[in-house]
Amino acid sequence: MCCIVAYVVQREAYPILIYGLKRLEYRGYDSSGLSLLNGKLREFKRKGKVQDLVNFVKGKNVSGSMGIAHTRWATHGKPDDINAHPHQSGNGRLTLIHNGIIENYAALKTALLQEGHVFQSETDTEVLVHLIEELQTRSNLPLEEAVRVALTKVIGAYAIVVMDERDPGKLVAARKASPLVIGIGDGEFFLASDATPIVEHTQKVVYLNDEEIAVVTRDGELQIKDIGNEIKMPYIQQLDLKIESLGKGDYEHFMLKEIYEQPNTIADCMRGRINAAEGWIKLGGVDQVQERIAQSKRFIMAACGTSWHAALIGEYLFEELARIPVEVEYASELRYRNPIIDREDVVVALSQSGETADTMAALELAKEKGALIYGIVNNVGSSIARLTDAGSYIHAGPEIGVASTKAFTGQVTLLTMMAISLGYQRGTIPKSYYFQLLEELERIPGKVAKVLESDTQIRYIASEIKDANNALYLGRGYNFPIALEGALKLKEISYIHAEGYPAAEMKHGPIALIDENMPVVVIATNKSAYEKVVSNIQEVKARKGIVIAIVTEGDKIISSLADYSIAIPDTDEPLTPLLSVIPLQLLSYHIALMRGCNVDQPRNLAKSVTVE
Ligand code: AGP
Ligand code: GLU
Repeated sequence: MCCIVAYVVQREAYPILIYGLKRLEYRGYDSSGLSLLNGKLREFKRKGKVQDLVNFVKGKNVSGSMGIAHTRWATHGKPDDINAHPHQSGNGRLTLIHNGIIENYAALKTALLQEGHVFQSETDTEVLVHLIEELQTRSNLPLEEAVRVALTKVIGAYAIVVMDERDPGKLVAARKASPLVIGIGDGEFFLASDATPIVEHTQKVVYLNDEEIAVVTRDGELQIKDIGNEIKMPYIQQLDLKIESLGKGDYEHFMLKEIYEQPNTIADCMRGRINAAEGWIKLGGVDQVQERIAQSKRFIMAACGTSWHAALIGEYLFEELARIPVEVEYASELRYRNPIIDREDVVVALSQSGETADTMAALELAKEKGALIYGIVNNVGSSIARLTDAGSYIHAGPEIGVASTKAFTGQVTLLTMMAISLGYQRGTIPKSYYFQLLEELERIPGKVAKVLESDTQIRYIASEIKDANNALYLGRGYNFPIALEGALKLKEISYIHAEGYPAAEMKHGPIALIDENMPVVVIATNKSAYEKVVSNIQEVKARKGIVIAIVTEGDKIISSLADYSIAIPDTDEPLTPLLSVIPLQLLSYHIALMRGCNVDQPRNLAKSVTVE
């Protein structure tokens, strides 16, 4: 959710900041702004994309070797020039960027108003910069101390960077529940919400922990303290991120590139972890906590959005293959309902970004209650990856398109490996089936590549249904979460209202919506309950709905009933989701494109939701 980037010393800051904002724009993009310090502060803010800011700044003085910059995803106050960050203190001396929410901003603001502070914007953020100013001037505190004391009075989530016109030797940064990475260059520092703008400049990074405050100085010093004023040793890590992976390559959009990367990303997720010929699966994270897992009585999977859909598939996989009871929870619900969790539970968090605030909070709660917490994460070094007791990276590489695609199939691949491995260890699947699943899993990347060959046909179907206002997605068993995911993909990037349902639930309500204008996407590859799905399709046809069926290659019955059908290669039922989701990703991509939508940066959304 939004991003912050800051730079200190050596070179001209402006190009570095703009480059950083463009790299991070996928995280939030309703307005942007920057402040530069060169003797005096200069501030530029603009509603819209980073390019709008660049156009606005053209011809103006942007010199300065120190600066802070921000793209916003509005929480408090509309997206406009005034609410855009940075925000200044009343005396014009301090400038601050913030990612997150100051939850007690109203109480703080009331107190500051009584002290005579005057506010320009509707944001929660501006309250924080006034509070720092108040403490700095009233008690004559150095900037970092004023920031520290201010943060002891704040409830909420923040990653901030503050710059002081009268103390131009340093930048002060802090974080709680919103990410902040410090890149250490040669006598220079780069601060950002994630490592993508940093990797261009340096591989050396420090991930700031919750409630830590960092001071980076012009003299090349980095000091870290926590909010309780205790000095911390910076832990310097090497980035494992390739700059080429951050571009679009030859593709028109990141989403399309990421859809097409899936044969490789699924293979990368399995690399070194399974070997069908030798009959083994090895997940380092699971091995580390094998005993705790063996003693556990159930798994709870917590996630949001697309990751939650992956978790639902996990439930089907774990229960069928490993006979382990699984509960799938929206992280945002889990955390606020006093859940029954104890030491015998394993709580698995699934997250592409590893920064989702709700998922983080649910994990913290589970940790407090003594459960083993396990992360299935894409973003290496992210907060969730660092919080968990153990975990597995999905190795999908940076996912920039806001609509998650390759991270989803990565999560499902990982869950599939876990379920097969646990099933084998627990003796809940026969050896022959275990070998069969391993062999088939190794064939999945090739089969995904085969599904991608249907692109032209899918584009044609997209052109036929692109003007619909609503759509239904139906699936049973392993394909039910795929129906939910297909519907989410369509609504988030094309703004068509879509709903996913278990196919059999249709007759309990949604069937009332069906008429000749309603596209109904049926994921109909099931072997079990095949006839039931055929009946569901008949019910839709009887009400003149337009049926788009995802079928198994060679299927004659459903293909003859449906208006359009897309065939995917045959596979073992537990592996079906890895193939059946692909046409739905492409379908929503083409529909969104044909409707003129911004595929990679859909309205109102942010890639990484670091606020509740
Ligand atoms: C996916 O297309 C969405 N943009 C969104 O639902 C996302 O999956 C959700 O916000 C969870 O994110 P995470 O995986 O980074 O935790
Ligand atoms: N809450 C702040 C605002 O609305 C920061 C939002 C963000 O993280 O971009 O301005």
